[in-house]
Amino acid sequence: MPVALVLLLALSCLIQSHGAGNVCDLGRRPNTRPHSVSILEFGAVGDGKTLNTIAFQNAVFYLKSFADKGGAQLYVPPGRWLTGSFNLTSHLTLFLEKDAVILASQDPLHWQVVDPLPSYGRGIDLPGRRYMSLINGYMLHDVVVTGDNGTIDGQGLLWWDRFNSHSLKHSRPHLVEFVSSEDVTVSNLTFLNAPAYTIHSVYCSHVYINKVTATTSPESPYTIGIVPDSSNNVCIQDSSISMGYDAISLKSGWDEYGISYARPTANVQIQNVYLKAASGASISFGSEMSGGISDVVVRDAHIHNSLSGVAFRTTKGRGGYMKEIDVSNINMVNVGTAFLANGSFGTHPDSGFDANAYPLVSHIMLHDIVGENISIAGEFFGTKESPFTSVLLSNISLSMNSDSPDDDDSWQCSYVEGSSESVVPEPCFELKGFESSYGRAVAL
Ligand SMILES: *[C@@H]1O[C@H](CO)[C@@H](O)[C@H](O)[C@H]1NC(C)=O
Ligand SMILES: *[C@@H]1O[C@H](CO)[C@@H](O)[C@H](O)[C@H]1NC(C)=O
Ligand SMILES: *[C@@H]1O[C@H](CO)[C@@H](O)[C@H](O)[C@H]1NC(C)=O
Ligand SMILES: *[C@@H]1O[C@H](CO)[C@@H](O)[C@H](O)[C@H]1NC(C)=O
Ligand SMILES: *[C@@H]1O[C@H](CO)[C@@H](O)[C@H](O)[C@H]1NC(C)=O
Ligand SMILES: *[C@@H]1O[C@H](CO)[C@@H](O)[C@H](O)[C@H]1NC(C)=O
Repeated sequence: MPVALVLLLALSCLIQSHGAGNVCDLGRRPNTRPHSVSILEFGAVGDGKTLNTIAFQNAVFYLKSFADKGGAQLYVPPGRWLTGSFNLTSHLTLFLEKDAVILASQDPLHWQVVDPLPSYGRGIDLPGRRYMSLINGYMLHDVVVTGDNGTIDGQGLLWWDRFNSHSLKHSRPHLVEFVSSEDVTVSNLTFLNAPAYTIHSVYCSHVYINKVTATTSPESPYTIGIVPDSSNNVCIQDSSISMGYDAISLKSGWDEYGISYARPTANVQIQNVYLKAASGASISFGSEMSGGISDVVVRDAHIHNSLSGVAFRTTKGRGGYMKEIDVSNINMVNVGTAFLANGSFGTHPDSGFDANAYPLVSHIMLHDIVGENISIAGEFFGTKESPFTSVLLSNISLSMNSDSPDDDDSWQCSYVEGSSESVVPEPCFELKGFESSYGRAVAL
């Protein structure tokens, strides 16, 4: 057996022993609640014009009293339910019937403004505070947002225009956000037009996202589908996501704020997903990764019409790590750069970052991948101070389009070391074997 293969096998055992491969298999509790009330009972009007924020807030407040009685369901019947932001509560199921559409108000006054997340120190778009998301969970247990494929529409156009014209007062809201929550399920729903992220879980554990369709316009600026952020035990499966920027992005905080908050994203499993990312990457890691990202398994993904397929982004000042990441069984069609790793990517929250906080990027496995109509196979740009190490490529076959540079240039590499086995087109020499670009054997 070739040495590279032995090492790949050893590494895959190592990754499996970390358990990331099992997150989706864990049994989910049946989400039947002994009590159910309809939003109609709280005076809501589903005409697409009446503002129902108070109805949602009152319904959730009422259903809090069922938390110790097995929880309750808030039922949203067919209709167009306009609302500003509201909070969920523990042991609650928000259920959207088929043809029920929750519509986000386009008046920023209907969106509460809240403090920035401690691991970011500021909003993502602007310094300072940020708009609260449309649907929020804060310090909850056992909460479910589901339905018979009902829709949550963020009507994001207004926010995208304000972002583009630099007229936002605060950073844009997300569509659904869970903070410091456990045992969270989002399933069987369609999400449209998120102002920024569609589903953001931050400081959470046991997050299960299943059968979700999420779409924003390809022109929407920096919209992202699902963002597991400083969260562990996360499963994303059987979903279809098409976004302006990234489809799925794993994050863990920004520079000095993320380093001091020190909450990693770990044990994430992503499987059976259909992804498109117009101006970003279908699956991205970082660039905010200061709390560390590890033990991630991605398998059975279809990536199409994306600027990049799988991207690792970081920069000096981030600290943290991205390691033990196993990406396999991927099918890519019409993708600019299949694999991108950029160690000089992204900006800083403020001038307080530590320029000597170098990120570590290591033990990345990409294998069993086919691609069609790809322009650039791989771009790996580590930095002198923190080269990427142990990047393992195996069984990759990419058919390149005529936009691609000469065969010799379809991989572009600097400050990276790794190995490869059965990769077409042939990778850069840095990724070809165990003699690294520094002329020493690479120890795994
Ligand atoms: C929603 O929860 C946040 C805390 O995350 C709190 O600041 C806000 O006042 C709550 N809003 C309502 C309407 O309860
Ligand atoms: C999910 O949505 C589908 C399609 O609308 C529906 O047939 C199914 O019953 C839903 N599943 C659950 C668990 O509600
Ligand atoms: C939900 O609706 C979307 C949009 O209409 C559709 O593409 C998707 O297949 C549906 N999902 C399910 C589970 O029925
Ligand atoms: C190849 O992919 C590019 C996008 O990267 C797309 O614009 C083009 O239409 C695709 N070509 C074919 C033949 O599908
Ligand atoms: C890395 O990111 C920086 C900053 O966005 C950019 O200038 C540079 O071109 C990127 N490198 C690659 C190979 O994409
Ligand atoms: C190579 O990867 C393809 C999927 O892209 C898979 O069908 C095939 O079985 C793999 N070959 C080996 C030898 O593992």
